[in-house]
Amino acid sequence: MAKTLAAIKGVGAYVPTNVLTNADLEKIVDTTDEWITTRTGIKQRHILNEKGKATSDLGVEAVKILLEQTGLKPDDIDLLICGTVTADMVFPDTANTILDKLGTNKGFGFDINAACSGFLFALNVGAKFIETNTYKNVVVVGADMMSSIVDYTDRTTCVIFGDGAGAVLLQADTDGYGILDSELRGDGSGRQFLHMKAGGSLKPASCETVEAKEHFVYQEGKSVFKAAVNGMITSINEVLNRNNLSPNDIRWVVPHQANMRIINSVADGMKIPIDQVMVNIQNYGNTTSGTLPLCLFDYRDQLKKGDLIVLTAFGGGFTWGSTLIKWAY
Ligand code: COA
Repeated sequence: MAKTLAAIKGVGAYVPTNVLTNADLEKIVDTTDEWITTRTGIKQRHILNEKGKATSDLGVEAVKILLEQTGLKPDDIDLLICGTVTADMVFPDTANTILDKLGTNKGFGFDINAACSGFLFALNVGAKFIETNTYKNVVVVGADMMSSIVDYTDRTTCVIFGDGAGAVLLQADTDGYGILDSELRGDGSGRQFLHMKAGGSLKPASCETVEAKEHFVYQEGKSVFKAAVNGMITSINEVLNRNNLSPNDIRWVVPHQANMRIINSVADGMKIPIDQVMVNIQNYGNTTSGTLPLCLFDYRDQLKKGDLIVLTAFGGGFTWGSTLIKWAY
């Protein structure tokens, strides 16, 4: 019997309408459009600034577009996995909130916290439920409202991040299309370079933690930069070598959008022309779990059935990895 693969059969994405440009940031912190553009490639990011709205609302809008595209109804979703570091609340999870806001309680959901690798890890977990013929329709969401954990007085982080979400539908395929292989990695010793200091069990929220601004992203950019380039290149190579493929066989590299210089370094390191690398960082900044599905959505008209693509990500944890996919539609 032909092997069952988990194939992406649809993509949806959503960013809030409110835009924060580099010119806007020049008025908030000591920075310039020139610095941000040359050091990161980012020109603007979208910020969710509606009171009472949260990460789940970004996810809901992305899933609605996905359902429209695929002709499914909320009740058809067997399982929804949400990659996020900005859950609506510490608990419960955001995935079940998304399902509830879509008006269904027929399936179930859970979150995966792997920082900027959140979508990639969630995609691979979701794939297992398809490959084992456990469920028919698995929706994988990557959603983050980074503006809720970014300090807009810290110029080293506030220029980088934005809010956004994307979602894909996974269904079974027995014709060889879908997720072919993955290399997923973690190294917890990297947590010192990228984390949020307070609000967890290690340091619960208190007046002191708020005063010390410990509920925001803490990042040592240079260490993260080097590890990100290295992690993405080595994991792509691992997957390609294991499948007897060379970079020439790959139609698209879909990299996490953290910094244009990181993306360029990965392309150079892989000897893959930059026009075969999906890039939309200029429009959204780093939306953490949202970047990969946002790329797939923006490039959806250029993806063709049979294309070999590699998704690659790196994030806090450290977490990183690459997934090889034969595009299904
Ligand atoms: N505007 C102007 N100057 C800025 C600035 C800003 N927004 N942010 C930092 N600077 C300054 C610094 O203060 C420093 O000044 P100094 O030399 O007087 O001390 C100088 O620019 C260089 O800072 P540095 O941190 O060395 O810059 P960088 O080239 O490493 O770029 C990042 C900083 C954060 C953009 C970069 O390190 C990066 O992208 N790292 C990876 C981030 C990432 O991927 N995170 C997501 C998880 S995957």
